Amino acid sequence: MENRSQWGTRAGFILAAVGSAIGLGNIWRFPYVAYDNGGGAFFLPYLIALFTAGIPILIMEFTMGHKLRGSAPLTFSRLNKKSEFVGWFQVFVSFGISTYYAVIIGWAIAYSVFAFNLSWGSETGAFLMGDYLQAGDPGKFGSFVPGVLIPLLIVWAVVLSVLFKGVKKGIEAANKIFIPTLVVLFLIIVIRAVTLEGAAQGLNAFFQPSWSVLGDPTVWTAAYTQIFFSLSICFAIMITYSSYLPKKSDITNNAFITGLSNSGFELLAGIGVFSAIGFVAVSTGTGIADFAGDGVGLAFAIFPQIINQMPFLNGLFGFLFFASLVLAGLSSLISICETYIAAFQEKFNISRTKAVAFGGGLSALISLVYATQGGVHFLTAVDRYVLTVGVGLGGLIEVILIAWAIKKVKELQSHANGLSQIRLGSWWTICLTIITPILLGYMIVLQLINDFT
Ligand code: PHE
Ligand code: NA
Repeated sequence: MENRSQWGTRAGFILAAVGSAIGLGNIWRFPYVAYDNGGGAFFLPYLIALFTAGIPILIMEFTMGHKLRGSAPLTFSRLNKKSEFVGWFQVFVSFGISTYYAVIIGWAIAYSVFAFNLSWGSETGAFLMGDYLQAGDPGKFGSFVPGVLIPLLIVWAVVLSVLFKGVKKGIEAANKIFIPTLVVLFLIIVIRAVTLEGAAQGLNAFFQPSWSVLGDPTVWTAAYTQIFFSLSICFAIMITYSSYLPKKSDITNNAFITGLSNSGFELLAGIGVFSAIGFVAVSTGTGIADFAGDGVGLAFAIFPQIINQMPFLNGLFGFLFFASLVLAGLSSLISICETYIAAFQEKFNISRTKAVAFGGGLSALISLVYATQGGVHFLTAVDRYVLTVGVGLGGLIEVILIAWAIKKVKELQSHANGLSQIRLGSWWTICLTIITPILLGYMIVLQLINDFT
């Protein structure tokens, strides 16, 4: 246990944590969620969620990992014998995410090539579901779609070889390349996007505040959900990553840097995406609302339309956009897989190599299902299920456990305060013991009512 792997540098840890946080959620989820939930007014619930739940929980998870030095199940069991299952629950959710997150990165690889010859044609939505995914009837998991399968294998080859190399030589080294590259590529995209004709209209639509929505509880739910998913908290990830920190680490400060960088990237993505949407709306003479969307539709149907319309160097712009998705996705996928690799290593007392081969291999194998005809329907269903359960329930169980069931907030507080210049006071304890549990509980009840009525 004493030869536990360690990050080589503080910057290496921060880049890995930021790499986990910045992912598809920033690029294809945040812009639309903000637009759809009050535009400029959404920043109020969003910032409240960041400072009452996001950063406080991130500090808590960093502290747990740093103090107890284990994968999520081991960390939870060292906190209290009976709570090991919470760690396994989170690892299980992460495993579920890893099986399909890889597939989406694979699509982005394929699309970064299509960007140069615009092989998606003018009917980009039909191309995605038809020619590319060959998404026939959901019951038909008949045959592999080679255009999906090959990029998927490339994704796993990259991810598994990084994970085989370990924490410092693999994860840290990869993120030191991926994240700075991603930031540069993305800045180029945003600068190009805001200089397109129509960008102003897009930005107006994005930032236009509709204050009246703040009375609507679903807007607050959207803000909290975005923060949990986007910061990768309550998914076993941040506990695992911080368990590799050296003894002397300012974890509170690291958490602020991670949380603020992730939100900064999110804001940048909102500006880039809505500038581009403004451009395509103006150049086709339609409304912003016709192009505003999120997820698979935004990245693989709407963005190709934007690229089709662009005046010059559109292939390059398209390539940079999909390459950004690939880099953002890979660094998140690596972190998701590390949760179960660390957990298997400790639980079954096996080497990293075996844990990667078994855990990563299993996830890769399952992901092949989504590379078949009809696989996309399966992917959509798993995504929805894993996210509702993973984000809401995972978060609630964790805060209730630590704040109320085993009452560890004070102990973690003094551990963190012993390491940092930033002192955690009542802001932190009140957020964790009162505000976040109440809000998350309320969110889940609301969702259950919505689902069952
Ligand atoms: N935080 C990542 C994003 O914004 C996604 C993620 C969620 C990664 C959960 C791992 C676990 O896309
Ligand atoms: Na994110």
